Amino acid sequence: MSKQDFRDASLDLEARVAALLQQLTLDEKLDLCAGKSAWKTKPIPRLGIESFRVTDGPRGVAWHSSMGRHVAFPSGIALGASWSSELAYDYGVALGEQTRASGRHMVLGPAVNICRTPLNGRTFEYFTEDPWLNQALAVPVIKGIQSQRVAACIKHYAANNQESHRMKTSAELSERALREIYLPVFEAAVTQADVWSVMAAYNAVNGVPACENSDLLNDKLRSEWGFRGFVVSDWSAVRRTSSTEACVKGGLSLEMPGKGTRYKQKNLRQAYDQDKFSERELDRNLSGLLRVMVLTGHLDVAPIPLAPAAPSSKHWALARRIAAEGMVLLKNHAALLPLDTTRIRKLAVIGPKAAKRNCLPLWGGSSGVWPPYEITPLQGIKEKIADQFAGRIELVSQAEEADVVLLFVGLSHRPGLDSEVMDRKSLDLPAKQIQLIEASLAQNPNTVVVLINGGPISMEWAGPVPAILEAWYPGMEGGRAIADVLFGDINPSGKLPVSFPRRLQDSPAHQSSRTFPGDGAQVHYDEDVFIGYRHFDSREIEPLFAFGHGLSYTQFSYSDISLSSKVLRGDDVLLVKARICNVGSVAGAEVVQLYISDLECSVPRPLKELKGSSKVFLQPGQAAKVQFGIAYRDLAFYSEKNRDWLAEAGRFVVLLGSSSRDIRLEAEFDYSNK
Ligand code: GLC
Repeated sequence: MSKQDFRDASLDLEARVAALLQQLTLDEKLDLCAGKSAWKTKPIPRLGIESFRVTDGPRGVAWHSSMGRHVAFPSGIALGASWSSELAYDYGVALGEQTRASGRHMVLGPAVNICRTPLNGRTFEYFTEDPWLNQALAVPVIKGIQSQRVAACIKHYAANNQESHRMKTSAELSERALREIYLPVFEAAVTQADVWSVMAAYNAVNGVPACENSDLLNDKLRSEWGFRGFVVSDWSAVRRTSSTEACVKGGLSLEMPGKGTRYKQKNLRQAYDQDKFSERELDRNLSGLLRVMVLTGHLDVAPIPLAPAAPSSKHWALARRIAAEGMVLLKNHAALLPLDTTRIRKLAVIGPKAAKRNCLPLWGGSSGVWPPYEITPLQGIKEKIADQFAGRIELVSQAEEADVVLLFVGLSHRPGLDSEVMDRKSLDLPAKQIQLIEASLAQNPNTVVVLINGGPISMEWAGPVPAILEAWYPGMEGGRAIADVLFGDINPSGKLPVSFPRRLQDSPAHQSSRTFPGDGAQVHYDEDVFIGYRHFDSREIEPLFAFGHGLSYTQFSYSDISLSSKVLRGDDVLLVKARICNVGSVAGAEVVQLYISDLECSVPRPLKELKGSSKVFLQPGQAAKVQFGIAYRDLAFYSEKNRDWLAEAGRFVVLLGSSSRDIRLEAEFDYSNK
């Protein structure tokens, strides 16, 4: 094999990796274990290998890690609320194009931690509280990114579900909860999307820091799921690990940011010379990085040129589409929305979030993207009026003189609100905003509240409010998307990817300080698998707004559920069909949700678990068939006794609904293991 075979793009991938591994000296291998600086690996000049470069995501190419202004997509929870795998794929492709156009080989995203507590400062960055929906979105995002020969880096592995004490706490949870709730998205990222990189989290899991956790990094990720990429630490996460050799043996490939501590060259060399780890263990960790360097074209004789700056107008339009599809119409009493432009003459657009931008450098932490422009809600509405209603609708500043008031409230990316490093202190809106809502209602009952925020909000004030629209952090085109929805050019189709509890103490994570935020050393996931709607169902607690809830400007009927069989045996796939009809007067999309209920089980199980969804767009009067496949794993729980997934023979129910609390059709079947 010639010295340069690792550059020969005609050779088999594994042959190229093996060739390079063979050529690297031990010291060069040790060099590749730590970054050169915050955003790139060390070069290997002797072999002409340049630094492998990374950038933060996941809402776009972050400003601080690229020193550039890039497309700012809506926050992760907006994509979560879209329930659209197609949109997730398109978003991934765009993120991959933007990353390569910024001169980087890897983007640090998607961020996929389960929303266990509504107070998590990074809820806005993540997708959902449900493990099935989480993987249904993460897999297409990763496929989209990697279709551009850019590495996705799914984060933060694992059980990093709060910001409080993130650098030193240990998430204490059962193997069943880990397997059923927190790991499925990572398992699917490997087994369905072949993710090229995984970021090990700051926290420990059951006492072992993620960056040296061999059960997570070697046993599950590599051996069980077949991961062939590399594991990178969260930035400075190795500080809390026990030793250099613990990280090598634990399976960590790369310490970031640069220079390294545990993986400082002399520390690695000393541990190696003292036989504290083997070259085989080093090669296992390192081969993943070399493999991804080949996969991204970084080692080709003529490395893949940095794409010309991706056609941003294409991405701006996508940002607007995601923002619109992610918006959730929570309440719409007397069909106040869409705005009746035949009747409305005066419109008040008020509130602290009406003219506020949310996309600024480091705003929200490492996901802060600084776009070339940002359309605020007020700008979007003014533009819409100028385009379509000039001379017919005027903007006024006082609630009492308006036909309808659009009141924009919410949170911001300040630490302590929707931001990395700190969790929120409260589920409430700021007191001043609540006063503003009450004042506006007193002056004008036709007050629409639009929320600009990143997660659940309590709403003692909501009773007299006729309409509430959840717009999340809608990205650079957010103002236009909000105007599209408010004026009815787009019919909202978003569904809540997280439950909105009435009160914080209704949330399963908020039973005591032991369950959140913990004492700094440990936080106990005592709710086990009963998180989010699973908890509300099992405890019969009425949420403020249920998981999967979202209204439309039209209505949908569900009928004709049918199963391909009354018995599911072994590895069969049971087909579930139903008919969905748009029985309203405007076109719209419905997210049909499929839940499974296990009526007889040897362990406690949630009353229902999401196992499928289908988003159908229908014209008024149009109907469509939706179809789902149910297989063994959809019925199974994780048996700690068997140390494997287990579906027990017996009666199951398929539930089809418009939300977890709005079940429209049911059908029973039996699972038989004979
Ligand atoms: C941060 C975040 C991680 C980010 C990394 C680099 O602390 O936890 O999501 O990618 O460091 O900025």
